[in-house]
Amino acid sequence: MDTEPTTVLGQPFPQTHPNRLAAIATLFGMQAPDVKRCRVLELGCSDGANLVPMAVQYPKSEFVGVDLSEHKTAEGKKTIRELKLKNIKIECQNILDINPKNLEKFDYIIVHNIYSWVPAEVCQKILQICREQLTPNGVAYVSYNTYPGWHMRGMLRDMMQFHVRQLKDPKQKVQQAHALINFLATSVPTENSPYGMLLKNELAQMQRWPDYYFYHDSLEKTNEPVYFHQFIEAAMQEGMQYLGEADLASMVVQNFPQPIKETLQKIAPNIVAMEQYMDFLRNRTYRQTLICHQEIKLSRNISSENLQAFYFAAPLKAVAEKPEITSDKVEEFQLPNGAKISANNPIAKAMWQHLATSWPQAVDIKNIITGVKSQIDTKDDIQQPLTELLLQAFMKGAVQCYAHPFEMTMQVSKCPSTTPLARYEAQKRAWVTNQKHEPINIDKLNQNILTQLDGKHDKKDLQKILSSMVDKNEITIAEKGVAVTDKEAAKNILTQQLDTMLTQLAKAGLLVG
Ligand SMILES: C[S@@+](CC[C@H](N)C(=O)[O-])C[C@H]1O[C@@H](n2cnc3c(N)ncnc32)[C@H](O)[C@@H]1O
Repeated sequence: MDTEPTTVLGQPFPQTHPNRLAAIATLFGMQAPDVKRCRVLELGCSDGANLVPMAVQYPKSEFVGVDLSEHKTAEGKKTIRELKLKNIKIECQNILDINPKNLEKFDYIIVHNIYSWVPAEVCQKILQICREQLTPNGVAYVSYNTYPGWHMRGMLRDMMQFHVRQLKDPKQKVQQAHALINFLATSVPTENSPYGMLLKNELAQMQRWPDYYFYHDSLEKTNEPVYFHQFIEAAMQEGMQYLGEADLASMVVQNFPQPIKETLQKIAPNIVAMEQYMDFLRNRTYRQTLICHQEIKLSRNISSENLQAFYFAAPLKAVAEKPEITSDKVEEFQLPNGAKISANNPIAKAMWQHLATSWPQAVDIKNIITGVKSQIDTKDDIQQPLTELLLQAFMKGAVQCYAHPFEMTMQVSKCPSTTPLARYEAQKRAWVTNQKHEPINIDKLNQNILTQLDGKHDKKDLQKILSSMVDKNEITIAEKGVAVTDKEAAKNILTQQLDTMLTQLAKAGLLVG
């Protein structure tokens, strides 16, 4: 492949995490392998940024990553050495050269952002590895670009490839490709022009992509999107079957208005056709598909019963400062994308409020019942209505579902600690991986605080450490965007803000003790 515009190293992708894959597999009737004692293979693992945090989180599980890039795998090996991890290996190898005989079986196989971007023979080999290397109840995750959405994007890709055809330098290619799309976006009239409207809409999205992603999707040599049904046919030829999507809400036909839902149910003879028609309706461009062995008998009837064993998390925030829970007043709870859940039923309101205050931790149904009963006075059995509500919200994508909770604390203890991984990452860069396998951006000050959170320092120690950093000009404090130059004033601000900063780190899923 061309050298990338910048050296792009990896990041954690929460949707690939076995904790989530296991929950979806269980929902569809599988006996998903225990994620705390499992084996995970990642093909095209880059520098291991997705795999290393899993290895830290599950010391009794084993992880193997494979990538073609010498530079990226060398970075991964260095991280493994420095973190002294014994349960993960990263190999520099071409997927095509993997000999299944030399590998043990895996419970989870992750192939993120590789499939559409490699030649057909590598795609086939990926599916073959899934077949041969997955344990009987194993789950494979494969993401890829899809049609019909990529017809429009592919047209723009062709235009950009034409425009940069004589350039060699990846940075220059990105620059020129951006120049072309800006020219098109400002020159093609949109009024009464379906072409102009389509173009503008796509271009607006592309302009927001980071350079590495833009390069990867638009300027690299190989980008072969497929229709969903073609991907599944290829998987079936290798003895695999469709299990589901990492984004489960996209599978729920009930999320379409009634007449559309009815027509879809009439024209789609099976789940693969249904998913394909839904892609046509949505002009889908990308999928994150889970597959499993063809021999597994799946159950497609998701009922609230299936949810009993799960842990739930929802990034909700009550719109009112103090929502009225016990009355029948309508209260609203907002999701980060702006969507709102409204409820007037006290049980429902108490549940949303409990999930809002528990966030980012995932809690089980027993915990939710206790949380609800602490807010409303009821002797009724509320388990059934609560699981029904959770199921509906989960199907709409408002609630996340996990096979087990996360090791994190929401309380700031006397001597707070973060994970060895977050301490290590904070020394190196401006983002760290939290306990939910999400990349969290941090500023210089939080980088400094996180490196000290080893459970051995109380707040006074932390204040001293931070004050000495101010003295040595190692950190700059800003107030309302303006740097505070007086050192004593800066130290005072730090002392006042330390509690708030620690609480924010807890809310970001970064404190474990
Ligand atoms: C776009 S990156 C995705 C990396 C990572 N999975 C992520 O999502 O951040 C594609 C990766 O696949 C690797 N790759 C491409 N072809 C490969 C092959 N035939 N065998 C092994 N790795 C390959 C590249 O080196 C690169 O790290």
